[in-house]
Amino acid sequence: MQVKKAVLISFIVSVMAVAANAEDYTNAEIYTKMCSKCHGLSAEGNPEKKGPALNDQTAHELEISLYDLKSGGLNQSSGTEHEIMEHNMKKIIEKGMNYEPKSMSEYIFFKFNPNAKYYKKVSESKYTVSEIYGKMCSKCHGIDAEGNPKKKGPALNKMTAHEIESELLEIQRGSVTQSSGTDHEVMEHNQEKIEDKGMRYSPDEMAKYIETNFYKK
Ligand code: HEC
Ligand code: HEC
Repeated sequence: MQVKKAVLISFIVSVMAVAANAEDYTNAEIYTKMCSKCHGLSAEGNPEKKGPALNDQTAHELEISLYDLKSGGLNQSSGTEHEIMEHNMKKIIEKGMNYEPKSMSEYIFFKFNPNAKYYKKVSESKYTVSEIYGKMCSKCHGIDAEGNPKKKGPALNKMTAHEIESELLEIQRGSVTQSSGTDHEVMEHNQEKIEDKGMRYSPDEMAKYIETNFYKK
């Protein structure tokens, strides 16, 4: 289900990317001119306009919402939970401020979400997620993510990409802040050692890699 949805979304997003190529405004300009009024200058939300905070969502979550909002706005569908935004979206597009859901969600995420720093560091990595999984993670989580009881590594092949991503984010955050008392103490320690070896990875990419290659219903 999750996989199907992702495939569908990436297909539709690529279609919409074509539709959006007439844009004269950058995402930053569109955000400041249009979105910030209701969602806040730092995407912290604006209760007066009922605009929810967007700085606590992943790029992936934003992309899914934006895709829904845009297609709803164009199709005049109603009765979804996004009626207000669908209406706004239509007006925004009419002003010539069309944008592509994927690049807008990345803009918002990297600019405003405090967790984005765990994703940014990834450009320093010399390894692909597949190499990192094979070299490091497979030892404790199994070659096919089936788990390895000897190392106490739980199976990861029954989790969706979304679930893995949120756990990994928590683990990466924990290893940076040296917080303890979470249920991920072992992994936080491993994460530190993995990063010391220069094997940084993005929670998002790693989660997708594991789901795509190993997920079993
Ligand atoms: C006139 C005010 C207004 C403007 C302008 C506006 N929004 Fe919104 N937005 C809202 C409100 C209210 C909601 C919550 C209700 C809904 O989804 O319809 C929302 C919801 C959203 C959501 C879904 C959040 C969630 O948690 O589901 C996203 C993503 C979003 N807006 C992005 C944007 C972007 C990007 C822009 C600029 C291109 C923008 N908005 C412009 C008022 C606004
Ligand atoms: C030395 C063994 C070891 C290595 C190497 C290791 N892990 Fe883990 N991992 C564990 C153990 C043990 C747990 C369960 C306890 C915990 O979360 O601290 C865990 C937990 C996890 C969880 C949370 C699962 C859940 O159900 O909440 C994820 C996700 C995860 N690891 C991913 C990875 C990834 C990705 C890598 C490689 C970059 C990796 N692990 C490398 C031992 C390891």
